[in-house]
Amino acid sequence: MSTLTSCRMTAIIFATAGVFLAPHTTSAQTAAVKVDATTCVACHGMHGEGAPAGVPRLAGQDAEYMSHALSMFKAGTRASAIMQPIARNLSDTDMRALADYFSTQHAPLVDAAAAKSPQLVLAGKQLAVAGAANVAACFSCHAEQGKGNGARFPAIAGQPATFVVNRLHEFQARAKGQSPQPGTMTAVAAMLDESQIEAAAAYLSQLTLHRNSE
Ligand code: HEC
Ligand code: HEC
Repeated sequence: MSTLTSCRMTAIIFATAGVFLAPHTTSAQTAAVKVDATTCVACHGMHGEGAPAGVPRLAGQDAEYMSHALSMFKAGTRASAIMQPIARNLSDTDMRALADYFSTQHAPLVDAAAAKSPQLVLAGKQLAVAGAANVAACFSCHAEQGKGNGARFPAIAGQPATFVVNRLHEFQARAKGQSPQPGTMTAVAAMLDESQIEAAAAYLSQLTLHRNSE
């Protein structure tokens, strides 16, 4: 798999750079917690920008959402052959610190330059802003401009198109296993057809993530 190969190659480069983070200490943690993000940046990019091969953007994503995602990978309740073994080696404190760190990062879009048809991008915008007969507007849950809303509704702006396509397919596979709860992303994804998935992914990959604080 080319994603893995290129990640491993980058890992070798970054292994020597040694990125150590000292996140904010909370009242519960008196000693500074040092978290090593070297493994993460090898795939997710130096500032958590993600990669066009299907690695999600972490920069500016909600910290609670990411921390929870990591615990789901660790528990095996969220599928990913890549992330599950990585998360298994992380403690709760590691997950929290890494999530906090990446949520405060700023990073450029990584998948905006790839040639995508303007019609596809426009169709994606239409779906995100207004929805369609079969599905509610993406931004009705993910907030305007896809900037996310709290820990439950992740930011979706600026995600590489391949990640969005893969993730929506994963939700669809889950919906086939058991009928999804209304209002969940599994239920939403089950309604989407392939052209809507392609369109949403094309649009979101070109959309800059403006975080709440900006
Ligand atoms: C070998 C490449 C690789 C490495 C190393 C890696 N990741 Fe990932 N990560 C991925 C891929 C690919 C996904 C998408 C998984 C999926 O949903 O199918 C992902 C997903 C995630 C997600 C979920 C994001 C979202 O928006 O749904 C988080 C959070 C995350 N990784 C954090 C980390 C952290 C923290 C580290 C370091 C401890 C790390 N990753 C190391 C490749 C990697
Ligand atoms: C009814 C509310 C709702 C609507 C409408 C909705 N979503 Fe979601 N979406 C969610 C929730 C909740 C999650 C978090 C699911 C999880 O992590 O298990 C999510 C997660 C996602 C993710 C994964 C993000 C990540 O970082 O892992 C993507 C991609 C996504 N939605 C895309 C879309 C698109 C595209 C649309 C419009 C076609 C859409 N969503 C409409 C509620 C919604």
